[in-house]
Amino acid sequence: MITIILGTRPEIIKMAPVIRACKKYNIAFSILHTGQHYSYEMDRVFFEDLLLPLPHYNLDVGSGSHAEQTASLMTGIEQVLVNNTPDVVLVQGDTNTVLAGGLVGAKLHIPVGHVEAGLRSYDRTMPEEINRIVVDHVSDYLFAPTKLSTHNLIKEGIEESKIYTTGNTVVDSLFQNLKIAEEKSEVVEKNSLTSGDYLLVTVHRAENVDYYPQLSRIITGIQKVSDIYSLPVIFPMHPRTQKMIQKFRISTDGIKVISPVSYLDFLKLEKNARMILTDSGGVQEEACILQVPCVTLRENTERPETVDVKANILAGSDPDKITAATKVMISSHSDWINPYGDGNAGERIVEICESHI
Ligand code: UD1
Ligand code: UDP
Repeated sequence: MITIILGTRPEIIKMAPVIRACKKYNIAFSILHTGQHYSYEMDRVFFEDLLLPLPHYNLDVGSGSHAEQTASLMTGIEQVLVNNTPDVVLVQGDTNTVLAGGLVGAKLHIPVGHVEAGLRSYDRTMPEEINRIVVDHVSDYLFAPTKLSTHNLIKEGIEESKIYTTGNTVVDSLFQNLKIAEEKSEVVEKNSLTSGDYLLVTVHRAENVDYYPQLSRIITGIQKVSDIYSLPVIFPMHPRTQKMIQKFRISTDGIKVISPVSYLDFLKLEKNARMILTDSGGVQEEACILQVPCVTLRENTERPETVDVKANILAGSDPDKITAATKVMISSHSDWINPYGDGNAGERIVEICESHI
């Protein structure tokens, strides 16, 4: 039996193919939802869009400081795993849910599989980088999406026999849902946008939104880009960012700010955007897979494959750098090769788990 731990928007999206593969291969599984994300548009909407079974366990941990949240996550996960010990625990990505799931599994001597292992920004000021490193080093099976992430793990002394280069499940989810999104979603029309003629923005990283100068520079950069290219901007805003925009009273004039949208709506917005500006990990990958140019509003990335294939440029938060990066990317030919795999990562991961059960 495999226990799939998830708790945030990107984990639900990227674990969906693993859940689908468990069903396809008739492997017993349970879903443990930590409740790190809990608002309808950050959580339940993805279970609906992706036709996922309801979680077997719900911890309702919610928000808090890193220590508070991680402590509650660990306590809740431990209770479930002690009472219902699986053969393997799977965690995905780099959130506090992943940190807690990995640590608890390892301490209970339950084999831990880390989906999306080996990503490194080499920036330890990011909470996610700490989570990635810790979880990679306590995991028994490391599912690295690319050769580069496999190489990162080997460099850190992780045994090669534990590492599997599988591709990223983000591709599986995207391939499984893009056609449905194109057919079903009306998000472009409903927001009075024209396909190929708008900019899509997301920003939510703590280091970008929790500090006034940083967030206000990014918003100014986006407004400048919109002015220069006469392109409307749509910005489905993460709740963390909404909170900070209000707190700092930053004007978003000229930007169409909406609540976070469903996965199908977001895929449609991405696919039809002229360009994407983001600080999200998953969105950098999806832009690359969808052949939509991307400007990343960060100084570094744990997704350098996207930069290497020329799908993405790092701009940081300086408005001039954001406009300069946009100038390069907006005229890009979008003819790069997707470095994240063939869309069968979920099945590979489940086959590997099964071979160890
Ligand atoms: C978390 C992850 C981040 C990931 C992101 C995906 C950590 C350390 N961070 O960041 O790596 O990229 O999820 O979106 O694990 N909030 C709501 N409703 C929700 C969830 C959050 O209103 O459903 C608000 C709360 O005010 C909360 C804040 O957002 O305090 C931050 O939530 P939290 O889960 O701590 O971190 P994220 O910024 O979402
Ligand atoms: N996403 C979504 N609706 C939105 C914004 C993003 O469905 O309004 C999806 C997007 O397709 C991607 C994932 O959320 O798969 C990225 O999550 P997020 O940016 O919150 O986290 P990160 O990837 O940075 O950890």
